[in-house]
Amino acid sequence: MQLLKSLEELRAWRKQQRGTLALVPTMGNLHRGHLRLVETAKDYADQVVVSIFVNPMQFGANEDLDSYPRTFDADCHALAELGVNAIFAPTVEDVYPRGLAQQTIVEVPVISDLLCGASRPGHFLGVATVVTKLFNMVQPDVAVFGEKDFQQLQVIRLMTHDLSMPVDVIGIPTERADDGLALSSRNGYLSTEERRKAPVIFKTLQDIAKRIRSGESDAAALAEGYASIEQAGLRIDYLELRRREDLLQADADDKELVVLVAAFAGKTRLIDNLQFDRP
Ligand code: PAJ
Repeated sequence: MQLLKSLEELRAWRKQQRGTLALVPTMGNLHRGHLRLVETAKDYADQVVVSIFVNPMQFGANEDLDSYPRTFDADCHALAELGVNAIFAPTVEDVYPRGLAQQTIVEVPVISDLLCGASRPGHFLGVATVVTKLFNMVQPDVAVFGEKDFQQLQVIRLMTHDLSMPVDVIGIPTERADDGLALSSRNGYLSTEERRKAPVIFKTLQDIAKRIRSGESDAAALAEGYASIEQAGLRIDYLELRRREDLLQADADDKELVVLVAAFAGKTRLIDNLQFDRP
């Protein structure tokens, strides 16, 4: 496994590669969800590169950029065991040589301002920009992302389509703990008490999907869901039923749906979603 710590090293390595290449972009602190993406990437291409870069551009001023968990040595070890061909771990200077203020940006309109984009202004601009840069640097044939961050996945799908990027974007189902909580690097911030309450998020998404599939009105099912999450002691940022493709408001004719939630357990903001079809 090659450890590529600069754009220069990556470009030299890339020139020597033959066959197809898959990229798995991450911010490190790898858990079973990330490793599932890597395993899937191996099925789609001859070679797999995992990028590890905590992207400052996608963090808001009051967010957890400085405290974001960094476990580089353990990450490298796990990826070596999985047989990854290369890790690309550039520095902030490598990715943003002229600084963030002057960086050319990639903006995917409308979808970037909804849901998480409304609560985290500029977040998807940071994601779309860094993913574009990673695509241009690594030049993969395939890139693998998790459905855990469903809005991010759809932003990236629209971006690659709109900008005619020659990359196949693959989405992978969410890896969960036994009690249903979606695995996330931010779960490590939870106290024992908060961790105990957190599974209500996924249970509620399943309950909402079940109610809507059995004919209950969207509004009634969402209201029930809202109440059960708040009763468990979490604070809802949003709980919304949307069309899967563009994440616009779903009406009764829309069949391909996704219910998405962001909720605070204490100070930790957790997100999750569940896709389902209306009969
Ligand atoms: P990060 O949060 O490290 O996640 C990297 C990838 O792992 C994303 O595609 C994410 O959706 C996926 N992932 C996280 N938890 C998962 C789970 N429980 N099951 C399945 N997949 C999961 O997302 C980012 O980094 C960044 O925004 C990035 C795309 C790297 C751009 O900076």
